[in-house]
Amino acid sequence: MSQQRFSVRYIILFSMAVCGVCAVFVSSLAVSLADEQDANKLLDRRKNVLMAAGDVQPKDDVSAEQINELFGQYRAKVIDLATGEEVADIDPTTFDQRKAKKDPARSEPAPSNRSSIQRVPNNALIYEKLDTEGNVELVVLPIEGYGLWTTLYGFLALDRDTRTIRGLAYYEHGETPGLGGEVDNPRWRALWPGRLAFDDQWQVKIQVIKGTAGPVAEDPHRVDGLAGATITARGVTNMLDFWLGESGFEAYLQKLRNSFGTKGAA
Ligand SMILES: Cc1cc2nc3c(=O)[nH]c(=O)nc-3n(C[C@H](O)[C@H](O)[C@H](O)COP(=O)(O)O)c2cc1C
Repeated sequence: MSQQRFSVRYIILFSMAVCGVCAVFVSSLAVSLADEQDANKLLDRRKNVLMAAGDVQPKDDVSAEQINELFGQYRAKVIDLATGEEVADIDPTTFDQRKAKKDPARSEPAPSNRSSIQRVPNNALIYEKLDTEGNVELVVLPIEGYGLWTTLYGFLALDRDTRTIRGLAYYEHGETPGLGGEVDNPRWRALWPGRLAFDDQWQVKIQVIKGTAGPVAEDPHRVDGLAGATITARGVTNMLDFWLGESGFEAYLQKLRNSFGTKGAA
């Protein structure tokens, strides 16, 4: 081996060449996979919507085709939170609610709340499940709020009566596994369907208590607490209170309720 091959200049040039080749390889891989990543993100979101609504169970091994087929019953819709009306000129497939929330032109400061929510987007992306006649059967609403360590992001599914909870599913949080992370436990999630989000005067009433709640029929407004994780549990109560209230989906739910008249009221 010649002296030249191991000179400092050679080593630097060789390292730069290796870095250059790797950089080109990684960036072209990232570019070529971008579409696939977007498709997977969309699929994941759809699966989480279906899980909140109870159409898919956490342990179900569902294929992309099955998810898309089940999701065919759903209509994604961007709404104006203040009026509850659909915003037809925003494409639900590209609308990013988290980005909108951070954009001062597309969001408002949140009123004081116990969920540490700083800003509320003007628009929200919701999902309506339609029955065979095209009527809304249930709605899936995005919710978020602080637990103990982090913001939890999830979906709340409500029956078309807008009062009966059909399910609750979190898809992103950093709470401690075994403590606050028990929000993902299928047994805890199974306690939600059938509970009532509002009282008879349409005040938000649902809450996660410390301890054990009664069966749905006898104790419809309360859900079992999370042992050793009262702070996360309180966070769940707080975010439901916020998103079902005036700064959240109140206007939309009111409209939906009116569209069904007394038939839809529980
Ligand atoms: C390492 C560690 C992680 C914890 N993670 C959580 C959590 O994710 N959620 C939570 O509410 N409490 C968590 N706690 C417990 C809280 O500090 C607090 O004690 C608890 O929420 C009180 O609930 P309890 O009254 O049901 O015991 C954690 C505590 C420790 C030491």
